[in-house]
Amino acid sequence: MTVRVGFLHSLIRPEEKLLLAEFAQRKATVEMIDDRAVQFTLGEPAAQVDVIVERCLNHSRALHALRLFESQGIPCVNSAAVAATCGDKLMTSVALAEHGVPQPEVRVAFTPESALVAIEAMGYPVVLKPAVGSWGRLLAKVNDRDAAEALLEHKTVLGSYHHSIFYIQRYVDKPGRDIRAFVIGDECIAAIYRDSPHWITNTARGGRASVCPITPELAHLAAAGARAVGGPKGAVVALDIFETPDGLVVNEINYTMEYRNSIAPTGVNIPGRIADYVLARARR
Ligand SMILES: Nc1ncnc2c1ncn2[C@@H]1O[C@H](COP(=O)(O)OP(=O)(O)O)[C@@H](O)[C@H]1O
Ligand SMILES: [Mg+2]
Repeated sequence: MTVRVGFLHSLIRPEEKLLLAEFAQRKATVEMIDDRAVQFTLGEPAAQVDVIVERCLNHSRALHALRLFESQGIPCVNSAAVAATCGDKLMTSVALAEHGVPQPEVRVAFTPESALVAIEAMGYPVVLKPAVGSWGRLLAKVNDRDAAEALLEHKTVLGSYHHSIFYIQRYVDKPGRDIRAFVIGDECIAAIYRDSPHWITNTARGGRASVCPITPELAHLAAAGARAVGGPKGAVVALDIFETPDGLVVNEINYTMEYRNSIAPTGVNIPGRIADYVLARARR
């Protein structure tokens, strides 16, 4: 019998097209589940599928839908627990710390006053980020006290709930690039460098992708990061990794990973590997 895949999505971007093509090649039956239309009745199945693959744009829709599908006994890639941890940079940092995975120094505070104390104690420059966010949006590099005071006031007056938790990270002086490592389960299958003249290197912000060799150190760190957020069997994740004089550190971990710019430079069929992983998770 063919595996029935529930394809939870919002827009169909190149990532989704590539992944759908891989499922078609593997003769899986795909049921499209649009997060703008899906409805759940608690206690009743929302879809007759054997596994869910999550490709939503919106973190809270992904998180809540995954939890609902799991409550119906359907395995999900990624799990709701992985989404909860990776969708929140603070939760990711906590998981990394609990598992002894190196990361830049992080401090957290809940008021602008205590945040300023934490920033001054860390020393400039620091980076402030919304705990929930992506594509390099609303990141701020703070070089001095004047900027810190202004930014904290702006966040307090203009920011949403997510700006009331002050996530403060030490600024890492990167060598004009950082690393993005792709992990399926607990295996690092591909990695790219993202080069940029700007300190924010996201390819969504113009960072250029080129192949990065998977050294034993990188493979080990990426797998350790995936296990920190996903448990012993890991997760399907993309890790942002910085090179420092003291070795590699994990900046953040993405759970609905984008890979369109990473297939050509690495020569790795990332969506194909995801499809294999998803089909292997299906309930029998
Ligand atoms: N502490 C930091 N030091 C130096 N560069 C950083 C730091 N934090 C983020 N960056 C840069 O900004 C980019 C985006 O930050 P990131 O934490 O990955 O947020 P997003 O979820 O928006 O991708 C990173 O890939 C990196 O290039
Ligand atoms: Mg990132």
